[in-house]
Amino acid sequence: MGLNLTYKVLKDHLLEGKLETGQEICIKIDQTLTQDSTGTMVYLQLEAMGIKDIKTERSVAYIDHNTLQQGFENADDHEFIKTVAAKYGIVYSKPGNGICHQLQLENFGKPGSTLLGSDSHTPTGGGLGMIAIGAGGLDVAVAMATGKYFMKAPKVLNVKLNGKLKPWVSAKDVILYVLKELSVKGGVGKIVEYSGEGVKSLSLTDRATITNMGAELGATTSIFPSDERSLEYLKSQGREADYKEMKADEDAYYDEVIEINLEDIEPLVAQPHSPDNVRPVKELINLKVDQVAIGSCTNSSYSDLMKVARILKGKSVHPDVSLCISPGSSAILKALAENGALADMIAAGARILECACGPCIGMGQAPKTDAISLRTFNRNFYGRSGTESAQVYLVSPEVAAISAIHGYLEDPRVITDEIDFEMPEIFEKSENLFVYPKEDRESVEVVMGPNIKPFPINSQLEDSMSGKIVLKVEDNITTDHIMPSNAKLLPYRSNIPYLSNYSFSTVDTEFPQRCMDNDGGFIVGGDNYGQGSSREHAALAPLYLGIKAVITKSFARIHKANLINSGIIPLEFANTDDYEKIGFMDEIEISNILEDLPKGKLTLKDKAGGNSIEVLFEGSERDIEILRRGGYLNYAKTNLI
Ligand code: F3S
Repeated sequence: MGLNLTYKVLKDHLLEGKLETGQEICIKIDQTLTQDSTGTMVYLQLEAMGIKDIKTERSVAYIDHNTLQQGFENADDHEFIKTVAAKYGIVYSKPGNGICHQLQLENFGKPGSTLLGSDSHTPTGGGLGMIAIGAGGLDVAVAMATGKYFMKAPKVLNVKLNGKLKPWVSAKDVILYVLKELSVKGGVGKIVEYSGEGVKSLSLTDRATITNMGAELGATTSIFPSDERSLEYLKSQGREADYKEMKADEDAYYDEVIEINLEDIEPLVAQPHSPDNVRPVKELINLKVDQVAIGSCTNSSYSDLMKVARILKGKSVHPDVSLCISPGSSAILKALAENGALADMIAAGARILECACGPCIGMGQAPKTDAISLRTFNRNFYGRSGTESAQVYLVSPEVAAISAIHGYLEDPRVITDEIDFEMPEIFEKSENLFVYPKEDRESVEVVMGPNIKPFPINSQLEDSMSGKIVLKVEDNITTDHIMPSNAKLLPYRSNIPYLSNYSFSTVDTEFPQRCMDNDGGFIVGGDNYGQGSSREHAALAPLYLGIKAVITKSFARIHKANLINSGIIPLEFANTDDYEKIGFMDEIEISNILEDLPKGKLTLKDKAGGNSIEVLFEGSERDIEILRRGGYLNYAKTNLI
C-alpha cells in the first residue's frame, strides 16, 4: 500500500528508528517556534546546553502571551528572549506583532517541513502541509541545539471531506463537528490527516483553523495536503518559492478513516466547559450574551476578520455587549486599516485590542461575574477566561459577529443582506515588528534582568537515595496543584525559585519550606498523579525543592515524561495497597538503583515501619539513560550534541 502524507513527511525527516506505528523514532526538525510564556524556560535551557549555533533552518521567538507590562517582570522576559535570539541566530517577534501560530503560518510556513513549538497549538502549521507538533520546552530547546526530536510513530486517522460548506458555515464549524464526533480524547496518539475533494473548497486559513483545534482532539498534530490554494497563499506573501505539492499516495494506508460531508454541517457552538460539548447554534438562540471576543490563534486571519467587518458594517454592537477584536498579526491589522474594514468595526462599536493572545490567555478582558462570553477561541475550560463564574461558548467569527449585533446567540443564516465573502487572502507582509539576527553574533550579550533566574539542573543519578516523605497526596493531583499557573504567577515563568514557593500551595502551604528544611525528599501520590497541562514547571519546581523521586499508584503520561526529563524518578507501587504503608514524614531509602532501574523493579525501605516495598519503573532505555545523566538536558549535552 502507498504512503499517507503524514508518513511521507516523517520518512523525509527520519534520522533514527523504524517508521512503524508505536516505534520510537527520531526526526529532523526544520523549524521551531516559542512563545514568551514557555520561551523563557526554553532559552534558559538552550543557554545551559552551551552550544554556539542552532541546528534548525529557522527558529522564531514570539512575544504574544504576557504582553501586558504592569511591572518589570514581563519586560525583563522579553528583553532576555530578544538578546538570546540575537545570540543564537533566532528571529525575534516583538510584542504587538501578533500571535505566534498566525505569524508562523504567514511568514515561515513551508509545505513538507517539520515544525516543533513550545505551544500546544503549533499544529496550526499543518494547514499548510507541515508536520507541526506542540511539545515541552526542553524538547524544543534540544531540537534547536541538535535538530532532533524523539517521538513514537503515530497512528494516522484520515478524515475524508466531501462536498462543500453551505453559506454561513465555516471552518470553525468543521472542527467543532469533528470534536463532537470524536471527543477531546479522539486524537490521542494519532495524527489527523485530511483528504478528499472537499479540501479544495477550504481556504488555507480555513485549513489552519481546523488543524489548530486538532489540539483539542488530543491529536499529536493534524495535516492537510498542499495544493493550488496553498500556493496562492504563499504567493500572497511573496513566498511562492517555498511551495511544494504534498499529498498522500492514491492507495495510502490509514489506521482509521472517517468521512464527512461538508454539506451536512451547520453553524455549531461548543458549550461550557469543554470544546467537544457541541450543539447546533439554532438550538441555543436567545441565549443572552454579555461579551463577544474575536481573535486567538484559531480565528484571527485576514479573511476571518474581513467577514466580521463586513457583517458589522453599518450596524451597531448591542448596548449590553462588549465586543473585543484582536487581529492575529500586525500585517492583518494594517491591511484592515488600509481597506477601511477597521473603521467599519470601530464605527459599529467594537473594541480593538493588541495583536496578541489577549483574552485567550486571560491577559485582560476577563468577563463580568456570571457572564455569557462568546469566543472564537479554541478552549472554554472552567476559569480560563479569568472569571470563574463565566460561561464561555466557542463559535465561528460569523456567529460571533451577528450575535454581538443582536445581543443574544444568533444563527448567521438569519442574515439576509447580500455580503460578499469571496476575498483573496492577500495582504502585504509587515516586517518592522520582526528583528532578524545579525551576521555578527559574537558580541551579543544576553540580558538577564532580576526576574530571570537560572534553570535548575539535576546531577548524575546516585546508586542510593534516602530522605523523608515530605508530601503525601491523594488521587488525581493535577499539574495545577503541583505548580499553579494563574495571572499572578504567569510573569514568573522564568523564575523557578520564586515559583517554587507556590508549589502545592492549594494543597499544603508548608510544602516548599518543608523541602528546604529536610534537604528535599520524596512525594507519595495516588492514581493519575500529574494530570492536566503539559507544563514542565510542575517538574522543575519540585526539582528545585530537592525532590528525588515521586512514588504513586499511577502517573499521567506527560507529567511522567517531564519528571524523567528533570531527572526525578517516577515510581509506581507494585501493589497499590502499599500506598497505605508509607506515612507522611517517614524516612525511606532506595538502594541499588543503577542496577535495579533497568530491571524495572526497585525496593523501597521504610525505615520507621521497617517495611520493604516493591516499586516499579516503566520506561525506555533512553529514559533510563536520561535519568542516569540527571535529566534530558544533561543527556542532550553528552549524547546528542
Ligand atoms: Fe495564544 Fe490562545 Fe493560541 S493563548 S497561542 S491564542 S490558544
